[in-house]
Amino acid sequence: MNILFVGDIFGSAGRRIVREHIGHVRRAHEVDLTIVNVENAAGGFGVTPQIAEDIFEMGADVLTTGNHVWDKKELIDYLKSAASDGEERPRRLLRPANFSPGLPGYGVFEGKTQGGVDYAVLQLQGRVFMTAIDDPFRAADALLANIKAKVIVVDFHGEATSEKVAMGWYLDGRVTAVLGTHTHVPTADERILPLGTAFQTDVGMSGPYDSIIGVEKDMVLQKFLTGMPGKFEAAKGNPRMCAALVTCDARTGRASQIQRIMLGE
Ligand SMILES: [Fe+2]
Ligand SMILES: [Fe+2]
Repeated sequence: MNILFVGDIFGSAGRRIVREHIGHVRRAHEVDLTIVNVENAAGGFGVTPQIAEDIFEMGADVLTTGNHVWDKKELIDYLKSAASDGEERPRRLLRPANFSPGLPGYGVFEGKTQGGVDYAVLQLQGRVFMTAIDDPFRAADALLANIKAKVIVVDFHGEATSEKVAMGWYLDGRVTAVLGTHTHVPTADERILPLGTAFQTDVGMSGPYDSIIGVEKDMVLQKFLTGMPGKFEAAKGNPRMCAALVTCDARTGRASQIQRIMLGE
């Protein structure tokens, strides 16, 4: 089976380029499961319920987020509206599982593809150069112990390449794919690890590449040059959709191929 994972959608330019390409990519590669990271879809900061619904309409089965999940207050009620055993859209919008216990939302979704294959999507967030949260490695162990599906995709939202590579090796043979998000720059290290896990350190953002990781470059440059706080706005220029396409055995969950995708205008 084929799994499409689209990297962090950034702002309206990101939404537009994903809308342009996601349909034909899903059809051309006979994609069975589509996962989209939406943590920056609303102007670069978080995601609103309406934008989440729009991205589900484009064909996404599961949405993931990250450290920006709380940026839009209205998303909290959307997350709270999901029943833990439900399958409706708010339940299929994930936030990192290793945040403090009891917060709104869920870090794992278990579902079935249209073709009848059980799958799970798990989101974790790293701790290196990020806010202090629970150990993502132990969290992965605990969550995987309760997942029955063989096809398991992990979105590991992290800053440090070392931590993301470490998670790939830690979960090799236990999940179908470990795909990095958050740094917004696609890495050229996609591979199948020895025990059958597809890995890429960062899938890259789906957003404006004439920018500094999505933000208007002059605003970020000014901050680097002066150290003064400033307003950040999503850039628009040179949008590209970055994604990873993973092929796996639906019965074992073992990955056989991972391909990087980058599509522009
Ligand atoms: Fe992001
Ligand atoms: Fe992030």
